Amino acid sequence: MAYPCISRKKPIPKIPFYPSPMDVVRLMLSVAEPKEGQVLVDLGCGDGRILAEAASGYGCSVVGVESNPRLASYAYNKLLEMGVKNFRIVRGDLFGFNFGSADIITMYLTSDALKILRPRLEAYVKPGTKLVAHDFPVPGWRPVAVEGVVSVEDGRFHRVYLYEAGESFDLLSRQKRIYRTG
Ligand SMILES: C[S@@+](CC[C@H](N)C(=O)[O-])C[C@H]1O[C@@H](n2cnc3c(N)ncnc32)[C@H](O)[C@@H]1O
Repeated sequence: MAYPCISRKKPIPKIPFYPSPMDVVRLMLSVAEPKEGQVLVDLGCGDGRILAEAASGYGCSVVGVESNPRLASYAYNKLLEMGVKNFRIVRGDLFGFNFGSADIITMYLTSDALKILRPRLEAYVKPGTKLVAHDFPVPGWRPVAVEGVVSVEDGRFHRVYLYEAGESFDLLSRQKRIYRTG
């Protein structure tokens, strides 16, 4: 079945590789409270650090989407070397990714990118999916929790926003927000 796409009138903003410090990674995961066997997707997984922590610390099945081939292969090799069994690294565009099977989605993206991604998330995540955003809140959504930490790595205060599909945004009105292309 063809997977419907969100029409993109504006060009996708560039999202640089800027890794979440490890203490922020741990906070992102602790607010999401992953359970063993749940599927965690990191949109723009970079070097795979969130995936590695979710797999080794919580027993999650992990999926990373990364457009930069060097980072994608770095993340792949890292998880392989760690002996993680259930993982997948998708080298590709997060804006076209099918995240319908995710129980938890993590995102360290820009405000512009989140604005573009939002209708797709509203359309395709399953009820109860937890979404965690680092530093940049998803415009228009109501977080169910906001937590912060001063990272020992960069001395900066980082915020983490937890959303829950069905609580933070209305899944029933999703059809109004998408339309098919092609
Ligand atoms: C701010 S970094 C976050 C990395 C990681 N999630 C973390 O928190 O440590 C954003 C990542 O998104 C990737 N990225 C940017 N645009 C993308 C796209 N359209 N599709 C997939 N990945 C993308 C970048 O290469 C980068 O690795």
